[in-house]
Amino acid sequence: MDRKRTTSALVKYAKETFVEHTRETSLVAPISPSPESLIETVLDGLRLEPHDIVVDLGCGDGRWLLAAARRGCAGRGLDLNEDLLRKGRLAAAEARVSSLVELDKEDIFVAPLAGSTVIIVYLFREGLAKMKEKLEAEADPGARVVSVGFQIRGWVSVATFVVEGLHAYIYRVSDLGDSSSGRTIAGVAP
Ligand SMILES: C[S@@+](CC[C@H](N)C(=O)[O-])C[C@H]1O[C@@H](n2cnc3c(N)ncnc32)[C@H](O)[C@@H]1O
Repeated sequence: MDRKRTTSALVKYAKETFVEHTRETSLVAPISPSPESLIETVLDGLRLEPHDIVVDLGCGDGRWLLAAARRGCAGRGLDLNEDLLRKGRLAAAEARVSSLVELDKEDIFVAPLAGSTVIIVYLFREGLAKMKEKLEAEADPGARVVSVGFQIRGWVSVATFVVEGLHAYIYRVSDLGDSSSGRTIAGVAP
């Protein structure tokens, strides 16, 4: 079998395995860590301040939270994969930022979002569409949403970063008194 056919067979197998696995769990994205270079670029671009509170919905090994903690920000990561959470806690301890990083086993669709100023999502399209409703209902006005890999349909991004071919779309939740929903997502610089 040539290389192209092997790759496409592997991708097909990975998709089938993921679909099979997600029938029994609420997983809406596979493990696919963001490149550190993208994380650093986005967090620099967002000009994080120590008062920012970051949440990563589907945090994997917590790498976004560790990078935010190195900038003095507290953060919380949620995932269902205990191995990755354990790895993240260990890395936080080694980097001496455990006091700023909380990594919990929790379903992202159950966790409350209020109080977070920066919300990271790196989810597949269907999961992202479901998360969009939760963000619209719960995210604080002024919070910034970073969507890795996929645009959030119907929202207008305020900035886009591209690193190693991967996009990160930035949105800002504003409470502009729209009569239909009371809020809108768009508009001003990140
Ligand atoms: C594409 S990875 C992104 C990991 C990390 N945010 C990053 O950018 O490096 C998606 C993560 O979401 C987690 N995940 C998917 N569905 C979830 C759910 N319903 N509750 C909690 N975590 C979930 C997966 O276990 C996986 O670690």
